[in-house]
Amino acid sequence: MPLLSIRDLTIRFGPDDAKPPAVDRLNLSLEPGQVLGLVGESGSGKSVTSLAVLRLLDPSARVTGSIEFDGTDLLQLKPEAMRRLRGCDIAMIFQEPMTALNPVMKIGEQIAEAIRVHQPRLSRKQVRAAVLEAMEAVALPEPARRYGDYPHQFSGGQRQRILIAMAIANRPRLLIADEPTTALDVTVQAQILDLLATLRKQFGLAMLFISHDLAVVSQVADRVAVMRHGVLLEEASREEIFRQPLHAYTRGLIGAIPTMETDREQPLATLPPGGIEAGAWTEAQPGHWVRG
Ligand SMILES: Nc1ncnc2c1ncn2[C@@H]1O[C@H](COP(=O)(O)OP(=O)(O)OP(=O)(O)O)[C@@H](O)[C@H]1O
Ligand SMILES: [Mg+2]
Repeated sequence: MPLLSIRDLTIRFGPDDAKPPAVDRLNLSLEPGQVLGLVGESGSGKSVTSLAVLRLLDPSARVTGSIEFDGTDLLQLKPEAMRRLRGCDIAMIFQEPMTALNPVMKIGEQIAEAIRVHQPRLSRKQVRAAVLEAMEAVALPEPARRYGDYPHQFSGGQRQRILIAMAIANRPRLLIADEPTTALDVTVQAQILDLLATLRKQFGLAMLFISHDLAVVSQVADRVAVMRHGVLLEEASREEIFRQPLHAYTRGLIGAIPTMETDREQPLATLPPGGIEAGAWTEAQPGHWVRG
């Protein structure tokens, strides 16, 4: 059974049904321990999809379809049950480490808080041990000494490690990472991607990894889904997407990845004209889906 199964997810903002939806009949599924990369240009509906899974969309959003996590439809859950899942079985990390951290609270206390919310019966000592363990898991140097430091005393990459520590502290089964490395410089970005790959093995984490950058996604994902204008255009294993991209849009994304051989005089691959979101969704080869 898939861990996460999104079926016919449609998300609209505002009352106008004639307007194209932000997400249009999206189908995605994620096996336990698997990493699914969701790629698409700005505005393609990646973030609203992840917010829908967490039930964090603002009330103006109209959501239909189903989002099953471990067999339970999250869209039907009572708010209280959803709060228990969020940050516990399903954790998340976002792009901006600084805005997600409280600037006036010690980082050890912030991680402790994330643990206490879901495990209120742990003693102070147990919570502290769990905090140090989480800090160690994300390779923050000298956890015991840095426990009492504030966010501004850390580098950007270290702050993202702190947020990842908060996310994994309750041993989630699913981690949703929305552009987790976009705000970081390339070297630090590579270190964080390595860390996510390590944690994924260590904890058997499944991940929904979102990025506008196919090159980044391909470093962590087992399967890659490409979306545009709220519609899925192609989905296949990482190897297959690169070996035999079937959709012109996917080929454009791959062509835009700079390589050592990139001829910088060549213009980026041009996108096909509009209307590419209208075709039928078919399985061209086993496990390789494409629209058109
Ligand atoms: N609260 C909202 N009210 C109205 N429209 C919204 C709201 N949130 C998102 N949208 C719209 O939904 C569409 C998808 O937005 P989304 O944030 O998911 O894009 P994205 O793929 O994450 O892009 P980016 O790469 O820039 O983060 C956009 O057209 C956006 O304007
Ligand atoms: Mg986004």
